[in-house]
Amino acid sequence: MYFDSHAHYDDESFDEDREALLTSMPLKEVEFIINAAAHMTSSYEGIALADKYPFIYCSVGVHPHEVKDLEEHNIEELRRLSMRDKVVAIGEIGLDYYYDLSPRGAQKKWFIKQLELAVEVALPVIIHSRDASQETFDIIRQSGIKEGVIHCFSGSVELAKEYVKRGFYIGIGGAATFKNARKIVEVVKEVPIEHILVETDAPYLTPTPFRGKRNDSSYLKYVVEKIAEIKELDNLAVSDITCQNARRLFKI
Ligand code: NI
Repeated sequence: MYFDSHAHYDDESFDEDREALLTSMPLKEVEFIINAAAHMTSSYEGIALADKYPFIYCSVGVHPHEVKDLEEHNIEELRRLSMRDKVVAIGEIGLDYYYDLSPRGAQKKWFIKQLELAVEVALPVIIHSRDASQETFDIIRQSGIKEGVIHCFSGSVELAKEYVKRGFYIGIGGAATFKNARKIVEVVKEVPIEHILVETDAPYLTPTPFRGKRNDSSYLKYVVEKIAEIKELDNLAVSDITCQNARRLFKI
């Protein structure tokens, strides 16, 4: 059974077949899905999906791309939403200095505020970090947050080990299956399996051999197979252990 720790089923690319696709997930051995929020609207949409499907849980939060439009009252709104039953994390939050779609000052400000919220409401965080590895780590360390996952990890082995030392999990997705993957393969090799979560980031980052197509949670098996190959474990052990890891982190 698979636990997809990060997917975006509120995304418009699922508008045409969302219901049929999600209904089929238990038949494809997908046992749990976390719908990761990208902005305020998707925080509400994730809650609606979690209300509808027993195997979907969700996070609430605002992605660094979208924080430029945030206002103080939105944090109050997130606090209120975080009290809902199936809201299991604050995210995805962080820094993205690759696209820089929000000014860096705003990214830092709202990242810190959402981390403070997570500490206050005692929920783990789902972190997005691109081209900002060290700064993301420093802000997390200063915040005092102790539980979370670095989604689609793209940093060094050393940094991954620092996160593990703090009790964090490393999110591994389709990128690990790509032909040119090197750094992430090293990370998978070095990080204990007890600290790895598997994810699709659907509809994005579709694993080989379906790279380029729309991603969904049923393709998680290719990520699991790749991790099993790298760590010389069997597929079932990887899917079971990563499922237990995610249940421990998100308290499901
Ligand atoms: Ni994502």
